[in-house]
Amino acid sequence: MKTAEFVKLAREAQTRAFAPYSNFRVGAVLISKSGKTYLGCNVENSSYSLTCCAERVAIFKAISDGDHDFSDIYICGDAEEFTNPCGACRQVLLDLGGENLNVHLIHQNNTVKTLKCSDLLPYSFNASHLKKK
Ligand code: THU
Repeated sequence: MKTAEFVKLAREAQTRAFAPYSNFRVGAVLISKSGKTYLGCNVENSSYSLTCCAERVAIFKAISDGDHDFSDIYICGDAEEFTNPCGACRQVLLDLGGENLNVHLIHQNNTVKTLKCSDLLPYSFNASHLKKK
């Protein structure tokens, strides 16, 4: 699939957002190395802090389907320009997607900016910190 098709899929995911409180819709498409795609949208809750972001919905869907190897994620939202992933999502994407995951941010005009996951979260906390002496 080409970039334009992934952008279209991300926009489709965005239409599924359940965001009655913020009215801010986010869509994500996670691509696994096997070629599968997983769509995610933000799912809000009346107890606001229980909301789950689109990126985490996509990656949790993939992991729960037994998929663990990812190459790319596309993210779009209602922001005027790019919708950048929040700090919590950066942590989850780095932990589960790896530092080489390509993160494609979709501008409101559907152009795309690409970063490595590790560039989005330098000096991260990660599994290596949990190893005891
Ligand atoms: N949101 C995401 O889905 N992903 C992000 O990385 C940033 C924020 C959602 C959460 C909430 O439903 C809405 O955007 C406003 O914060």
